[in-house]
Amino acid sequence: TGEVLTDSYGRTVRSLRMSITDRCNLNCIYCHNEGHVGHSREMPVDTIVNIVEVASQFGINRLKLSGGEPLLRKDLEEALTRLPDMRDISLTTNAVLLRDRASSLKDAGLDRVNISLDTLDPEKYRTIAKCSTGMFDRVLDGIHAAVDAGLTPVKLNMVLLKDLNDDEIKDMLDFTRGYGGDVMLQLIELMDFRDLPQYRINANEVEKSLLSVSSDVQVRELHKRKKYIINGAEVEFVRPVDNTEFCANCNRLRVSADGKLKPCLLVNNNLVDVLNATKDELPDLFRLAVSKRVPFCRD
Ligand code: 5AD
Repeated sequence: TGEVLTDSYGRTVRSLRMSITDRCNLNCIYCHNEGHVGHSREMPVDTIVNIVEVASQFGINRLKLSGGEPLLRKDLEEALTRLPDMRDISLTTNAVLLRDRASSLKDAGLDRVNISLDTLDPEKYRTIAKCSTGMFDRVLDGIHAAVDAGLTPVKLNMVLLKDLNDDEIKDMLDFTRGYGGDVMLQLIELMDFRDLPQYRINANEVEKSLLSVSSDVQVRELHKRKKYIINGAEVEFVRPVDNTEFCANCNRLRVSADGKLKPCLLVNNNLVDVLNATKDELPDLFRLAVSKRVPFCRD
């Protein structure tokens, strides 16, 4: 029909962010537990496919799959294979399980991955992700496999943690650069949902000091997102909260692991349950969810 979903503040929904499990094989100290809904039932593949098909009919042509850790679902490739054609399908993963699945995911239609990597120090990795030794090496293997499989550009998500990993930005840039244009770095400001004041950090200050110590900096601005090329390595700052732009430009609709449409990241009183909806019922539930979007998602 060509109908698009525009909310009462003029924001048209263009991208769907779907959590497909709240289970995780890591236990990161700062995790906002975006996918976590407690005793949840996970959506069956049929439901995932129906939701994405309806989204696609509304002109939503970007899909991001996340968790928890989405690779814990063994039916992810099956789901991907059954999804409609979209402009961009990406996956946010910790990459622990990625090495052996990168090429099957690519074959199933995945375009690219975002990989959480906060440190290049195995000991720090254990501290941050609260996991056993050995996990870190699997993550590095996963990154390598993603590049090999063409799940590019691979975006590395580094959550900035004051006095824990903020001295590693240069190392992360060197690591990124080692993969040429196939890997880029996203420096993410911590959203402190877990009362960790010692790790709070101001991304603006990190940005300023990074630029002041870097010799060769190019700036690129694309779709209101500013990227730096620092000696050939691509870097972007992501400020999830401390930025009104986040809401003003928001074109996302989220889906929780237990099948609820979530109109805004930080609001929980406007969810629309679609777990048991039939495909015929879904379009109206999408319209309802979009009508519930608020201008700023802080409470
Ligand atoms: N603050 C900022 N980003 C977070 N993420 C998870 N928890 C937080 C938080 N508290 C993001 C990171 C991670 C991805 C899975 O979610 O980018 O890589």
